[in-house]
Amino acid sequence: MNINSHTNFKVYTPDYIAKEMIDKSLNIGEYCYNNLWITGYDIDGKALLICKNNILKMLKKYEIEGKKINLVEINSLMEEIDKTYDIILGNPPYFGEKNNKEIFTDMKKYKFGKENYEGKMDYAYFFIAKGIDLLKDGGILTYITTNYWFKADHAKKLREKIKKYTTFKYINNYNRSVFEDAVGQHNVVFTLTKEKIKGRLEVIDNKEKYYIDSDKIYNYKDKIILAENEDLERLDRVYNGRTHFLGELLNINQGIVSGYDRAFIFDSYDKKYSEYLKPFYKNKDINQYSYNPNKYWILYLDSKVALNEKISKHMNPYKERLSRRREVLKFIINWWELQWARDEKIFNVPKIIGRQRSKINKFSYSEGEFYGSADIYYLTPKVENINLFYILGYLNSKVFYDWFKYNGKMKGDNLELYATPLKETPIYYSADKSEIAYIEKLVKKQIEYYDEKTQKLIDRYFLNLNYEK
Ligand SMILES: C[S@@+](CC[C@H](N)C(=O)[O-])C[C@H]1O[C@@H](n2cnc3c(N)ncnc32)[C@H](O)[C@@H]1O
Repeated sequence: MNINSHTNFKVYTPDYIAKEMIDKSLNIGEYCYNNLWITGYDIDGKALLICKNNILKMLKKYEIEGKKINLVEINSLMEEIDKTYDIILGNPPYFGEKNNKEIFTDMKKYKFGKENYEGKMDYAYFFIAKGIDLLKDGGILTYITTNYWFKADHAKKLREKIKKYTTFKYINNYNRSVFEDAVGQHNVVFTLTKEKIKGRLEVIDNKEKYYIDSDKIYNYKDKIILAENEDLERLDRVYNGRTHFLGELLNINQGIVSGYDRAFIFDSYDKKYSEYLKPFYKNKDINQYSYNPNKYWILYLDSKVALNEKISKHMNPYKERLSRRREVLKFIINWWELQWARDEKIFNVPKIIGRQRSKINKFSYSEGEFYGSADIYYLTPKVENINLFYILGYLNSKVFYDWFKYNGKMKGDNLELYATPLKETPIYYSADKSEIAYIEKLVKKQIEYYDEKTQKLIDRYFLNLNYEK
């Protein structure tokens, strides 16, 4: 694989390791290479040939010739390997089960596959698990993979195994692709040792280097969190000081899926359809505390709307296309209806609205009609007398951003503010009415006119909460 030329990448490749060992061999007299030092496994002979040529090229520089390179062309996940190793290097393939059902079904026929399989996992996890199995106690494993398994819900088994048997020594979270031919990936290089020890872990996260206690990188849900010790302590305080999880105070619902925007979304208001047309917003219309005026209108046709002449006239040209939607075929909706119209109430009651994906946390407040696409979330009270302004202040605060960045869902630099991680976010909801009123006043000021000074007061309140109160 070609590594991006701008990547300052430690090249833990087999030829690099061979070179290191040859250099060391000088201590015992002269440069030498023993073919038992390195074994390469791949299912594809061509990949092995590249590896072999790299090692031979390197040996040539030391004038070491005529050496056999130990390469084994096998499916290393399925075939028994009855050796263990001091060092294991890997750059595993990465793909999900969705379009590769057969491969995963086959894996489950083997003891190793059955033991390490988890629904919606990635194939790469098997290679990490296999690497750990094949390591000697105290041995070292270094892999390059994508970084999703640090937090993915479907990598629980893998993280459990890593936590149980190993200790991280080094993590370099590039959080972008280091491969020229795999753009859009978020890569990480990590080294772990097969022993449970206490020690310092070197972390390079987006080029920033720091050290943390190796046992502290697992959060309360055993997800892997990269943050400095003091940040971890602050996050612990937020979690331990919570009075609720957001999901206990709020209903969190997703916006509308039309199933065919051309039929339902209008660029301008058309009086003819006034009883059905509603102001329609997109994700990007939502800012912190405010939102832009709607540019679009949606023909809000839910199950309560019967087909009449007016609707037929507009919808008929799209009928064939609309009728092919899965929900129509399954008789869940009529062909002229929105695919997921949702419960209309959520668009009209007082509510917090938020972007589904965003670089920073952006939540706003709306009391009136606010119909939005599926990349907008609607947060409405679940219990009586909940102060939405207080919660809005928290959701737009630095404390929330920090919490979500480390413990919630991220893809690259984007927060993924989906329903499940939002529901699982801890919140300190004060029992002191004067505190609620204080934040409500500041938040209302921000809604009217945003200013940094007021935001600092909101941030400071949530940061300095006396959680023991
Ligand atoms: C991302 S590539 C890495 C190639 C090369 N090792 C490198 O680092 O440039 C993943 C490699 O895994 C190999 N592979 C896929 N499934 C395998 C399996 N079950 N057993 C052994 N190798 C496998 C592929 O043939 C491919 O060469």
